[in-house]
Amino acid sequence: MKINLSKTAHFQTQIIPIAQNSNSKIVDFSGKKTETALRYEGESAKIYCGVGEQKDISSRVLRSAVARGVQIALEAKRSQVSLILSDKEWLNDELASSCIEGALLGSYKFSKYKSEPPVLLQDLEIITETLNENEVKKTKSICEAVNYTRDLVNENASTMTPEQMAKEAKTLGEELSMKVTVLDEKEIEHQKLGLIQAVGQGSVYPPRLIIIEYNGNQKEEQKIAILGKGITFDSGGQNLKPSGSIETMREDMAGGATVLGIMKSIGTLKPNSNVIGVIAAAHNAIGSTAFFPGDIYRSYSGKTVEICNTDAEGRLVLADAISYCKDKYSPSTIVDLATLTGGVMVAFADVVAGLFSNHDKVAQDLFEAGEQSGERLWRLPLYQEYSESLKSDISDLRNLSKFKRGHASSIIGAAFLKEFVEDVPWAHIDIAGTAFNEGSAKAEIPQFGTGFGVRLLVNYLLKQ
Ligand code: BES
Ligand code: ZN
Ligand code: ZN
Repeated sequence: MKINLSKTAHFQTQIIPIAQNSNSKIVDFSGKKTETALRYEGESAKIYCGVGEQKDISSRVLRSAVARGVQIALEAKRSQVSLILSDKEWLNDELASSCIEGALLGSYKFSKYKSEPPVLLQDLEIITETLNENEVKKTKSICEAVNYTRDLVNENASTMTPEQMAKEAKTLGEELSMKVTVLDEKEIEHQKLGLIQAVGQGSVYPPRLIIIEYNGNQKEEQKIAILGKGITFDSGGQNLKPSGSIETMREDMAGGATVLGIMKSIGTLKPNSNVIGVIAAAHNAIGSTAFFPGDIYRSYSGKTVEICNTDAEGRLVLADAISYCKDKYSPSTIVDLATLTGGVMVAFADVVAGLFSNHDKVAQDLFEAGEQSGERLWRLPLYQEYSESLKSDISDLRNLSKFKRGHASSIIGAAFLKEFVEDVPWAHIDIAGTAFNEGSAKAEIPQFGTGFGVRLLVNYLLKQ
């Protein structure tokens, strides 16, 4: 897809954001939020997108409005679109960038397995008096990373295996000059990453621990590690998931896919800081070689874990990834992203992701980055009682709590990770509700993989 900046519109399809009460006098259109209108004038099509009253205009509203507009253009089979951002007194550069995000995110389609390819956005012309090339390039590269993450999540689980995720990382590393280290199953065993090994041992697609290093500032000691849960398919293991829960479980590598998207974006934008991406990739399979409930495994940290349920596997692979990352890379901050618990959907549906942290500033910075990107977070507590409930009678820790089944399950998942993080400033983001949209597309949020977290974390990282 090509993007151009221009002072005047050249394409016959125009997307025009319109505020309510703006004297625009469009018949049967008042400019309310979510309202759209398509009007033909001869060959040309004008697509009006309502953005509501001027006082309520926000990045969030504009992003969605333009996404709806671009979807109307594509339905009308128009692949060359001018986005009119000039002559709007209520628009500043930040809001204008959200409009561009709306166009780039809203035009995403996963069509690889469709025999008849859909119409895609080919040329986007931005009509603006103030935005410059660099700002538009930055927005484009971040949105391309979001769409890349979506593609990875949408791909078949039998294709997007741990090995394939490692290949994706290597390709990014070569293209963007980042060092990529991949631990294969032999190295995972040799390094005593016992929890990753346990989760991955039942599959013909063996596990990988993937590390991508971006060094943008040699003088700076600070190094932020972004970790992702990369369960390429979560069958539940011996605690097999039932029909109705298992069908979407290719989404369980979304945390890892988000890390790949973030590193793609960081490697392209090249900020003056150090970031390390870590992906714990494994297939949680069922079968005679899969790990068993009741067994005890030794983690990389040395702590032993009683497996109460093989479906609580994400916390296991992440625990080892956290310990290994701390040991070998000494990060100053750790942020992990994981489709960790169904419980986060009980709490928030697909509207908000769960935020957990041992550090108020990290939590606040992430919260604010999410408010800005429109990927909202809400913090839940990590009180001592939750950690207590993870003590095992037969080993050091259990991977389920002693609370009633399902009680505080998202907090328990986070409390388990905290045992391995210890005193490093850390936040955990549970994206089980937000990373995958099982319903239909909602403006810039497509059906299936949503890419949730890429813009949020890139925002956060660029501000550090
Ligand atoms: N991958 C799932 C969580 C999940 C559920 C992600 C739905 C996306 C959509 C995770 O591994 C899991 O199975 N969690 C269990 C934990 C339980 C056994 C303690 C859960 O949340 O039910
Ligand atoms: Zn599971
Ligand atoms: Zn899982």
